[in-house]
Amino acid sequence: MYVFETIIALKQHLDQHRKGDQRIGFVPTMGALHEGHLSLLQAAQEQSDIRVCSIFVNPTQFNNPDDLARYPRTLDADLKLLEEAGCDVVFAPSVQEMYISQPLLTLSFGDLETVMEGAFRPGHFNGVGIVVGKLFNIVQPHYAYFGQKDLQQVAVVKRLVRDLSFPVDIVRCPILREPDGLAMSSRNRNLTPDERQQATELYNALTLAQSLLQEDGDLARAKDAVANHFAQKPQFQLEYFEIANADTLQPAEQLQAPGMTALCIAAQLGKVRLIDNLVF
Ligand code: PAJ
Repeated sequence: MYVFETIIALKQHLDQHRKGDQRIGFVPTMGALHEGHLSLLQAAQEQSDIRVCSIFVNPTQFNNPDDLARYPRTLDADLKLLEEAGCDVVFAPSVQEMYISQPLLTLSFGDLETVMEGAFRPGHFNGVGIVVGKLFNIVQPHYAYFGQKDLQQVAVVKRLVRDLSFPVDIVRCPILREPDGLAMSSRNRNLTPDERQQATELYNALTLAQSLLQEDGDLARAKDAVANHFAQKPQFQLEYFEIANADTLQPAEQLQAPGMTALCIAAQLGKVRLIDNLVF
């Protein structure tokens, strides 16, 4: 496995593979890797000849400085996991390498970012769009893999690719969960043991809402049930629970076509912000 910290060294290496007509699969991450990240790499394994993973905690997508400061950084362990998982190339640049200067460009994603994560994290998708665009230009992958865990991010990245004609196919991969249902996340490491036990309530709320909706399709009843679920759990600050279209992320007024109804949730538990979703 090759590890590069500079853009020029990475490009030189990948150019050789590109000349050999090899397909490049790319998994962008912010490190503190877990099985969810590795499942993206596994998906890449099936479609690509060369698998590239980036590890870069992107400061421009953090709207909360404490969240950035607390974000776990575990590079040595990450490299070990990637090597074992059969990754070919790692790109782990410094902040200076990625941002010679603060970008002047800002991106806005219209309706896609006025809801949910966009509404609660102002500027977040601008930062994601800028860094993913930069990474696509640096790596020039044929395929790039993103987790459904960040459903709105998938929609934003697809729109970025369409609007700027990046020659890359975006592949959405399923959410990997802990045995009790908690969606795997780098931020889970920051939960206390007690919070970790309670954290499964996000998934419980999603499955509760899903089963109610499958009974009678009544969106208001499902929303009330989730609000009640958390009303009895003051340790959580529920930020939102939305029923939305899985592609547009716009609030749904009724159940969508099969596979297109997304239940999305975000809550603060202690110092950790958790998000999750279910698409059915
Ligand atoms: P990060 O949070 O490290 O996530 C990297 C990728 O792993 C994302 O596509 C995310 O959706 C996916 N992922 C996270 N948890 C997952 C899980 N439990 N199951 C499946 N996939 C999961 O998302 C980012 O980094 C950044 O915003 C990034 C795209 C790298 C831009 O900085």
